[in-house]
Amino acid sequence: MPPAPPERRFDVLILGAGAAGLLSAATAGQRGRRVAVLDHNAQPGRKILISGGGRCNFTNIHCTPANFLSQNPHFAKSALALYQPRHFLELVERHRIPWHEKTLGQLFCDRSAHDILNMLLAECERASLSGGSVDLIYNARSLAVERDAAGFRVTSSQGGFTAPALVVATGGLSIPQLGATGLAYDLARQFGLAIIPPRPALVPLVLGGIEAAWTALSGVSTEIIAHAGRTQFREKLLVTHRGLSGPAILQASSYWHAGQPLTIDFAPGRNLLAPLLAPGARRDIATFRQALRAVLPQRLAAYLAETAPPAGWSNAALDSAERGLHRYEFYPTGTEGFAKAEVTAGGIDTAALHARTMEARTVPGLFFIGEAVDVTGHLGGFNFQWAWASAVAAARAL
Ligand code: FDA
Repeated sequence: MPPAPPERRFDVLILGAGAAGLLSAATAGQRGRRVAVLDHNAQPGRKILISGGGRCNFTNIHCTPANFLSQNPHFAKSALALYQPRHFLELVERHRIPWHEKTLGQLFCDRSAHDILNMLLAECERASLSGGSVDLIYNARSLAVERDAAGFRVTSSQGGFTAPALVVATGGLSIPQLGATGLAYDLARQFGLAIIPPRPALVPLVLGGIEAAWTALSGVSTEIIAHAGRTQFREKLLVTHRGLSGPAILQASSYWHAGQPLTIDFAPGRNLLAPLLAPGARRDIATFRQALRAVLPQRLAAYLAETAPPAGWSNAALDSAERGLHRYEFYPTGTEGFAKAEVTAGGIDTAALHARTMEARTVPGLFFIGEAVDVTGHLGGFNFQWAWASAVAAARAL
């Protein structure tokens, strides 16, 4: 048998060459650290490349801590303040990457998400200018971690690696086809850190039972307000062949829990049935249908006219029908799961981490960053902003 290759020693080992892992590596490398990044994929940043429809919605200029869910809503504040959207934008501009604001502060590449990945890789190379280095090691499978007096020892199909610091940036469970695994959670458990149960977020919802009839409206899209619990989002709804999607639903899905209703206002700020209440107006199903058609997409109007007519034609009955159209309750049977979820909510319990550095409170030298942590952004560039901010917070402590 050939002798096992010698272990390679670094200052920092980073697991995961995604958004958080690459920016953390570049930042630590530019601070003079010798960094190795290990990933089981054959290429880095696969999620970056497909993000934002291939144009990467890389940040949101209106980012505040209110755009994130976490068991501890205060945890993200310090990292988000340390590294803000303008800091990432400065980097983007230094690399002369053309960008535009699409809507609601969402910044996208003009050309392609490849620009962001290439920028991160170029930043990793720049480490050599400061006496540091970033070695990117792909196809590193079967990662296992041990800790001893010297630090962390990682074994993999690409050999063994040791370093006094280990950064876990392997993300959440969303989109296993792109390489997502629960490694971060396994490592957290191995080192005694608690996990907030991971669940799919920013994910389409599935309708079943009699609500499955809605799927006949597949393709219908309209602006709504979706309420899940006490949170609401005013954006587009899209009916799909399995249930409900579109930005309003994806956003609300992060707050929705099985068994809860999802309440929809089909005509925010509009009085749909006003035409029937006008003096002398006809009050019948045809006028009702026409009133809905004046405001809502035709197929949606026809469906609601058939399935949610007023219980009568009195003022009280029309008021009640109006309220029903602004508070229409769905009971989704579930979500489309991690295979379709843009992000994973839950993850490493923030109570186990220092908010300024992402270092484990009970395991010096061990850091968790990015989507692996129980900090989940709204739709619109916030998840990348968390990846960047948490990555830089950790790198400055390395
Ligand atoms: P990320 O998932 O990027 O990286 C983790 C890395 O770890 C991967 O390279 C993976 O291969 C590696 N890894 C995992 N398990 C491993 C193991 N066992 N061994 C070795 N390596 C392992 N956000 C946003 O702000 N704007 C947007 O436009 C979009 N768009 C978008 C579209 C789609 C389709 C998805 C699925 C997601 C988005 N997101 C997004 C979310 C965003 O992509 C996500 O939050 C970040 O990529 C998270 O960055 P991380 O570095 O934490 O994980």
